[in-house]
Amino acid sequence: MINKHHVLLSKYKDIREHSAFLCLPLSIEDYGAQPILDASPPKWHLAHTTWFFETFILAPHCQGYDLFNPSFGFLFNSYYESFGDRVKRANRGHLTRPTVEEIYDYRQYVDHKISEFLANNRLDSHILELVEMGLQHEQQHQELLQADIKYILGTNPLFPAYSNGEESKKTDPAKAQFIEISEGLYPIGFEGPGFCFDHEKGCHKTYLHPFEISSSLVTNGEYLEFIQDKGYEKHGLWHEEGWTFINHNNIRAPLYWHFIDGQWHHYTSRGLQKIEHNDSLCHISFYEAYAYAEWKQLRLPTEFEWEVAASKLSWGMRWEWTQSAFLPYPGFRKEPGALGEYNGKFMINQMVLRGASEATPVSHRRLTYRNFFHPHIRNQFTGIRLAQ
Ligand SMILES: [Fe+2]
Repeated sequence: MINKHHVLLSKYKDIREHSAFLCLPLSIEDYGAQPILDASPPKWHLAHTTWFFETFILAPHCQGYDLFNPSFGFLFNSYYESFGDRVKRANRGHLTRPTVEEIYDYRQYVDHKISEFLANNRLDSHILELVEMGLQHEQQHQELLQADIKYILGTNPLFPAYSNGEESKKTDPAKAQFIEISEGLYPIGFEGPGFCFDHEKGCHKTYLHPFEISSSLVTNGEYLEFIQDKGYEKHGLWHEEGWTFINHNNIRAPLYWHFIDGQWHHYTSRGLQKIEHNDSLCHISFYEAYAYAEWKQLRLPTEFEWEVAASKLSWGMRWEWTQSAFLPYPGFRKEPGALGEYNGKFMINQMVLRGASEATPVSHRRLTYRNFFHPHIRNQFTGIRLAQ
């Protein structure tokens, strides 16, 4: 029989090591940068995910545990009011200390303590759930880390490459066609074994009118037609808020796109490259996704339509904007304690994105996964799928 502790420990090690692996191409200077509020410094991610294990598992459950540094709670708490004051989000990039080396020491210290704790204790279901939560949280931050590294390097005028390796293919191989889904009462939400976040729970029935959904994501080439048709200048295609956003910020193309010597380029992990017309569009706001759908005289799917159709779609390259607001499912209750702050308090003014992106760890993907962002967000790996 395979030892349960051994399996958990090896999963823990793999996931924790992957965060450090993602940072291998960085220079020391890259680790501390916070070019915008929404992009946290890589070293902050490395420390915050470690703080999560220390705060939710070691401090309350490991007898005699000594905090690595009692100040780190103030520095690396993200948004948990239950744990009190913390560094303002906008000031995360001000933290030249602790150094990157100290943060890696912090990771090593906590990893060692967690390994000891898992090996030497009877693991009740509550502890197992907390470890799983810590690992899922780390995986969420691995994606945020990649988005933030891309922003740090991709908005640098030198457009430094993150990697010299092959860019993974972003083309959706399926030939675009609309898939028909008949009307009916469909189950929505997570059911069954395995992990899910609290806001996916509460499997419930939802009635859907008949609809069609595209088998493929919108490509760069298709979006280019929208730009060339002056989609960014036609106010009738935009929400008022979106129109104000693009004009206030002088947005006329997706994030990372640059028109150079008569050709569209974009920043990729290999540096500045010509746009590939067949690749899936990336880095657009909800406002742009909506305006594009308007221009096509189509619409974005609801999150429920997406979930019902998902098994028939190729997905996993982009977080796909839906037209659904991020709201609780029937029967949703926040977890007791600090973990109740994880999702519930964000159920306002944000839109749901479904699927997964090229930056989402494979073991972190689920058909019922509900990602959510404010409608102006463009630095995440977002794209468009159309419905009608
Ligand atoms: Fe977090």
